[in-house]
Amino acid sequence: MTLVAVGACYLDTILTTPHYPGEDEKLRASRISHRRGGNCPNTLEVLGQLLKYRPSSTESSLNLITVLPSKTAVASQQIQSSLGNMVRLDSSIYREAFSEPASSYIISSQTTGSRTIVNYNELPEMTRAEFASAVEPLRALTGRPWFHFEGRAPDVTLECIYYIRKNFPRAEISVEVEKPGRPGLQELAYEADYVLYSKGWAQNNGYTSAEDCLRDQLLKTCRASLLCCTWGHDGAAALEPKTGNFAHVPAHTEGLGVTDTIGAGDTFNAGLLYGLIYRGRDWDFRKRLEFANLLAGLKVSQEGFGNLH
Ligand code: FRU
Repeated sequence: MTLVAVGACYLDTILTTPHYPGEDEKLRASRISHRRGGNCPNTLEVLGQLLKYRPSSTESSLNLITVLPSKTAVASQQIQSSLGNMVRLDSSIYREAFSEPASSYIISSQTTGSRTIVNYNELPEMTRAEFASAVEPLRALTGRPWFHFEGRAPDVTLECIYYIRKNFPRAEISVEVEKPGRPGLQELAYEADYVLYSKGWAQNNGYTSAEDCLRDQLLKTCRASLLCCTWGHDGAAALEPKTGNFAHVPAHTEGLGVTDTIGAGDTFNAGLLYGLIYRGRDWDFRKRLEFANLLAGLKVSQEGFGNLH
């Protein structure tokens, strides 16, 4: 199965602090770390490990479509090497006039486990035409491609989804609905086959639990075969519109502790996509949810994305 993930790639600078600073406060961090981030790249990094250590009978290829600075920029090379040889960047878009990658500055509070993210991105967003040429080589594929969209720049993403529906009619489409308050994400959910909601987006829309979000979203999505929502300490839930199956699992944190919550949702998504794409009918609805939730719990208990398989 060819998986194409479409979303932004960041370089993250993470400061671990004893508590979240107040405005105008001076605070000494206990740690600084740098790593490649971005929802789709994080998801693919985890999926790459899963496929390496739990290979599937279906042939797999992981591809990232993202916007990067010039091909020769140090950052582009760092990003490429951070993804190893499991993730292909051949279809990514390089902005030759730029050398700065999208960057995130993240405060990770040891008191609460929260991660506060400030982004900077001067790279122009991908256009529909760029997306169309990036996916052109995939037309030669037999099999059924799977497109996973981060759900940023919703107007362009919506056009990309229409493009896929027209040109890859057998493709499956999953969409991550994550950014609180970003207009246009509901329209993406409406068009997707699988929708992954975040707690932040759900709360911003007035939902009080993962179940509340999914039961209402059922009425606002038309073709989805699975809706999923993560809820931090309260775990995650999934709903299958066609069967009415619903499941909720508590967060898998027992005895593990909270070390690093950055990318917990991205890891959950990797677990879920792994179950959906590579375990197919071997795993039922509940097993897929449990696996994604377990993987996210393990991620939160450790620094970074290594050893998640
Ligand atoms: C975590 C993350 C970070 C990145 C930020 C982008 O989910 O992907 O790695 O800097 O979010 O919004």
